[in-house]
Amino acid sequence: MNLNDIAKKICEKGKGILAADESTGTMNKRLKSVNIESNEKNRLNFRETLFSSNAMKDYIGGVILFDETIRQVSSTGKKIPDLITSNNSIPGIKVDTGAKPLAGSNLETVTEGLDGLRDRLKEYNALGAKFTKWRAVIKISEKFPTKQAVKSNAHALARYAALVQESNMVPIIEPEVLMDGEHDIDRCYEVTSDVLNECYNELRIHKIDLTGTILKPNMILPGANCKNKSSTEEIATKTLDCLKKNVPDEVPGIAFLSGGQTEMEASKNLNAINKINDTNFLMTFSYGRALQQSALKKFSFDMNNRNDIQKVFNHRAKMNSLSSKGQWTEVLDKEVA
Ligand code: 13P
Repeated sequence: MNLNDIAKKICEKGKGILAADESTGTMNKRLKSVNIESNEKNRLNFRETLFSSNAMKDYIGGVILFDETIRQVSSTGKKIPDLITSNNSIPGIKVDTGAKPLAGSNLETVTEGLDGLRDRLKEYNALGAKFTKWRAVIKISEKFPTKQAVKSNAHALARYAALVQESNMVPIIEPEVLMDGEHDIDRCYEVTSDVLNECYNELRIHKIDLTGTILKPNMILPGANCKNKSSTEEIATKTLDCLKKNVPDEVPGIAFLSGGQTEMEASKNLNAINKINDTNFLMTFSYGRALQQSALKKFSFDMNNRNDIQKVFNHRAKMNSLSSKGQWTEVLDKEVA
């Protein structure tokens, strides 16, 4: 398969991405929040439970793994990438090493991980990864983002993407404009437009084959503490408009992050976007929290009751699959799986 085929298979109609690439630090927080000890065994158990579910075959085109997980072996003796592949889904890997304070504007961040990346990519590819993820983080406030933060993050994303394509894998380009703050939806639109523009400028300079990439953007939303709430229709219209104006047509797939939306909001908004999607972009999900929250809760009740955990995960994945086709409804969502 060439890079374009891989990208299209991951985002195939009715499928999306399970972002299970939380770093150990983030996983510690997630498991602690439901009173589960975060150790290697428990992290593997939770993730293996999701990767062995029925939802994988039908709704999950790709799974983003963390370094620890791509090296693990399941309880049935299968390597984790093989378990994912056996369910007709594609394994991928997060390759950045995190957002670090940006010198000169150190309340903002620049994502690191370029040093030694070429060698790490070779290893991940040998372990079975067919695609990768790098997340840049952009903060909105009265002063932020600075041009410095937008440019340095876009530059790093492009250098990352070039190395990934050189290693024959599909880079997911994730420039996340955070939901935190009081800003309104139009400010999110404006900042996201600038960020996307800068990213595609840099990607062009670095001669990236855009047909072999996936964009993982935020939706256009008001800040979490904004007084003016927006309707689902407004969110969908502004998100689609922003992407149409700033993402080149050659990009095959756009897979949104959930970024702190509830499970229901994330499904509802993706559905509304797909209802009015008049582009050739495959618009789908690449959710972490919005796919795993309910499953994690079930896991905390009884981590060995795989049936119950998989039942809620299957339902969430199915709902987002429907949203990726514009066929989701609130009634279906509320039907207990
Ligand atoms: P959320 O969907 O929880 O925002 O996570 C997606 C992700 O991969 C962030 O990098």
